[in-house]
Amino acid sequence: VYGETRLNSRGINFADREAHRHLDQALEEACRQPWLAAPIVDGQVLKGNAQTILNPADRADVIGEVLLADMNAADKALIVAYDAAPGWANRAAGERAAFLERAAELFEEQRAELMARIIREGGRTIQDALNEVREAIDFCRYYAVQARQYFEHPITLPSITGERSQLQLLGRGVFICISPWNFPVAIFTGQIAAALAAGNSVIAKPAALTPLCAAYVINLLYRAGIPQEVLHFVPGSGREIGTKLVSDTRIAGVAFTGSTSTARQINQALAQGTRILPFIAETGGQNCMIVDSSALPEQVVKDVITSAFNSCGQRCSALRVLFLQQEIAPQILEMLSGAMDELYIGNPMHLSTDIGPVISLSAHDDLQQHSERMNCEARLIKAMRLPWSSKQGNYFAPRVYEIEKFNQLQHEVFGPILHIIRYPASRLNDVVAAINSSGYGLTLGIHSRIGTTIDYITRHTHCGNVYVNRNIIGAVVGSQPFGGEGLSGTGPKAGGPHYLQRFATERVVTVNT
Ligand code: NAD
Ligand code: ALA
Repeated sequence: VYGETRLNSRGINFADREAHRHLDQALEEACRQPWLAAPIVDGQVLKGNAQTILNPADRADVIGEVLLADMNAADKALIVAYDAAPGWANRAAGERAAFLERAAELFEEQRAELMARIIREGGRTIQDALNEVREAIDFCRYYAVQARQYFEHPITLPSITGERSQLQLLGRGVFICISPWNFPVAIFTGQIAAALAAGNSVIAKPAALTPLCAAYVINLLYRAGIPQEVLHFVPGSGREIGTKLVSDTRIAGVAFTGSTSTARQINQALAQGTRILPFIAETGGQNCMIVDSSALPEQVVKDVITSAFNSCGQRCSALRVLFLQQEIAPQILEMLSGAMDELYIGNPMHLSTDIGPVISLSAHDDLQQHSERMNCEARLIKAMRLPWSSKQGNYFAPRVYEIEKFNQLQHEVFGPILHIIRYPASRLNDVVAAINSSGYGLTLGIHSRIGTTIDYITRHTHCGNVYVNRNIIGAVVGSQPFGGEGLSGTGPKAGGPHYLQRFATERVVTVNT
């Protein structure tokens, strides 16, 4: 095990009624006030055009307001972050780590506040929200350990007699951290924690749809002691504020998580500059699972349901295409359909809810449009129904379609729609070729009891995270470093031992002694 004694953050035992009641009360309490997100630059809370934020489960519920950062705010953040970067890079790594460890403690104390925002702003279920806060805590602690391990002391290198050479990792300067709405706390925190741990100053631009979660995280990071001149918060639109930040000559790198198309735009913006900068991009996927006839059907169905429909399918890691060996397809599909009947679609504030809303009306319409195309081109296997007529929430009931060919999917379908493809056992190589043909390579599931099959698929598919005989979501910091290949990202993997190095520059100093 990678030489660390750190423990991952603990969950809540929901079977314990007292713990459950306590959480409910804390969530209720956290929801009493309207929430606000405002730009914070050099410790100053700035004004900006106000935009209301609606609860995706009920658009009549105005949960708060964001004040959008303008170009002046972004500019000031760049000036201050640029000046503050050398001082932060030269602080002992252990001191930077201590701030993150303090932040992790605060996240634990404020778990209900964070969860309430994830649920009401992000539409996530209680269990998802809990997992997300745990992941954020784990990122802080993990990167703190990594900073101490790799950044605290220079490594002494072999040298010729009379010379001493040392290699040191140092912060690069100003890192721009740009995050998506679907992990509004964990990914937002993880990017910032890594950039800070490695000795960079940070300008954080949260997703336009989830600034309230992000604002709460920023305040906890300041409370943990992160100096205000090294961390700035600029909520706003990607096209305006995001473009401005990534095009600025003062930046030293970009950590981005989001869609592949946005990653391309940022890559192009970076390519226009004169400097060659590190770009850490974690993007989308067309994730598949291959199930052969040796698999255990009950386990397959359970893992398919989790992989495809948890978080309403709004995970980059979620299962989109299930390849079933044709002999077992009828049985699996029948069991899958039965298991879907047990899913409860509802308000994410209730513990019994399995499927909450999708993030926005526009996300809902994209799914509707894809379904309409599938209704013409594919065979409908299962369409769940909403248990009530929801005019006010962005609810989309899970669906399963059978398609003929993988290339019927032209882009990432970001929601609870699963596609099935049957394959004959003799054509496993075609399945692997089809998966590789998409160019994406994020997660992959294999359900098989045959070692040579597992080995063949694992060796021949280009996917960053491969899961065998289990579900394909919920990578755990330190245990499943996460990130894809090809169109799914540049690596290195978040929550893994090589991530911080990408935020750093390596310097070798050779002294003639
Ligand atoms: P998105 O690409 O629309 O936006 C991501 C972020 O980029 C937002 O903060 C947005 O404001 C900003 N942005 C948009 N245009 C920009 C520009 N031109 N310049 C700079 N910034 C810009 O993605 P999303 O809809 O927020 O998130 C969903 C996507 O994220 C999905 O594709 C999903 O697969 C992916 N995702 C990937 C991972 C991973 O780890 N691989 C994790 C979560 C989500
Ligand atoms: N890291 C997240 C998962 O594995 C995206 O589901």
